[in-house]
Amino acid sequence: MKIFARLVLGTLLTLTAAGAALGETIAIIGTGQVANALGPMFAEQGHTIVYGSRDPSRADVRDLVAKTGGGASAATPAEAAAGAEVVMVAVPWDALPDVVRSLGDLSGKIVIDPTNPRIVGDDGLRDWAHDTSNAQIIQEMAPGARVVKALNTMNWRTMVDPHATGGPVSVPVVGDDPEANAFVVELVDAIGLEAIDLGPLRYARMVEGMYILWGNGNTLGRSFNYYLRPAQ
Ligand SMILES: NC(=O)c1ccc[n+]([C@@H]2O[C@H](COP(=O)([O-])OP(=O)(O)OC[C@H]3O[C@@H](n4cnc5c(N)ncnc54)[C@H](OP(=O)(O)O)[C@@H]3O)[C@@H](O)[C@H]2O)c1
Repeated sequence: MKIFARLVLGTLLTLTAAGAALGETIAIIGTGQVANALGPMFAEQGHTIVYGSRDPSRADVRDLVAKTGGGASAATPAEAAAGAEVVMVAVPWDALPDVVRSLGDLSGKIVIDPTNPRIVGDDGLRDWAHDTSNAQIIQEMAPGARVVKALNTMNWRTMVDPHATGGPVSVPVVGDDPEANAFVVELVDAIGLEAIDLGPLRYARMVEGMYILWGNGNTLGRSFNYYLRPAQ
């Protein structure tokens, strides 16, 4: 049963492991590295992927749809979002407000934000781009959306092959809707990463800061992956 159907029925059903496994329609807005990494993996888990592209007829977008399989398709960003229960905004961080504005009504939808706002200084190190977080900007623009910050603290190569890192990779997840967080935790765990729900969306700025440290680690020649080892 789809997320919307559950909500319409007004049941108390939560998006449990079984919920995620049933297969939702996931709109991935953007067709770059993150979309290429996650789209096929989500499809493998039984979800139907619709890519939202500024040019859905482009050859590379058609190739992405073909390699994704599982009934995947491509449409304009607004069309993709309209037909999906879950929307991932895999777009450049500074394009995000315009992209969100173009998506229409996101009320009730789970909106996953993997974007990484940052400025880069003369020393090559990243820093905060603004006083808030991109995830909170989405939430302000779309108050009815169920915004979840996730999947921003690692490289796309790690998404594709988490085991190549030699150990578990943690994915901090924050958002104000516990059911939406639970869905994203399930989605992330299913592709071999280790999601951890760290609470409300007001902490998205910290999760975006984790990217800044991670990226600076790369620049400084001290690359790492996050692993939040459970305490005893
Ligand atoms: N790359 C990584 O390893 C990684 C990992 C974690 C998080 N992230 C974050 O996730 C987001 C997506 O990353 P990405 O590496 O997939 O980015 P990317 O390769 O640059 O792709 C972004 C996609 O967004 C779409 N888009 C929409 N508006 C755009 C605009 N104004 N300018 C350019 N593209 C636009 C484009 O698809 P269409 O042309 O089809 O519209 C484009 O392919 C970023 O915010 C990034 O910080 C990236």
